[in-house]
Amino acid sequence: MKNIVAFAGSNSKNSINKDLATYASSLVNDVRVSVLDLNDFELPIYGIDLENAHGIPDNAHKFLERIKSSDGIVLSLAEHNGAYSTVFKNIFDWVSRIESNLWSDKPMLLMAASPGGRGGLSVLEMAQGKFPRMSANITSTFSLPFFHKNFSKGKLIDENLNNQLGRSVSEFNKAL
Ligand SMILES: Cc1cc2nc3c(=O)[nH]c(=O)nc-3n(C[C@H](O)[C@H](O)[C@H](O)COP(=O)(O)O)c2cc1C
Repeated sequence: MKNIVAFAGSNSKNSINKDLATYASSLVNDVRVSVLDLNDFELPIYGIDLENAHGIPDNAHKFLERIKSSDGIVLSLAEHNGAYSTVFKNIFDWVSRIESNLWSDKPMLLMAASPGGRGGLSVLEMAQGKFPRMSANITSTFSLPFFHKNFSKGKLIDENLNNQLGRSVSEFNKAL
């Protein structure tokens, strides 16, 4: 059986993106899912002086190992001021110092959710532009607007959006 990792680009205890990543990964057929939490990979704020003085912290290596040992990635990015959340950008920066091709050619379902109407499209587009230059194999994307209206009790309740997500999951599934 294939192993996938699912996680949010967020450190919120109540992350809506973690909810979406967890739900989307539950729709993937015949896989073992590990839901990761960036809070379990705490890292100092990246800085070249810190890296030169102390090297790359273990948690960055541990996170990369989780990516590399998986068969696929389900990622939902939080959008902060039109960009990656600080915690995601930080781990991304640290891990990119170990290996710039950090996504390791793994199939990736890339998503974003927000409470507002744009559904995190800015951060989604940013990642869609950058990740493939770091060996991401983005099979499909999904943007979830108005999270609190469309998602309840661990599930997407809007039928159209749920069908759209289903198609994205199916493309991901085929690539595993
Ligand atoms: C500093 C900050 C900036 C934000 N900027 C945006 C934004 O640019 N676009 C957006 O749709 N939501 C924005 N939000 C709202 C987030 O989408 C919302 O907090 C969401 O719950 C974040 O995802 P998470 O729950 O997975 O952490 C912002 C929130 C914070 C705290």
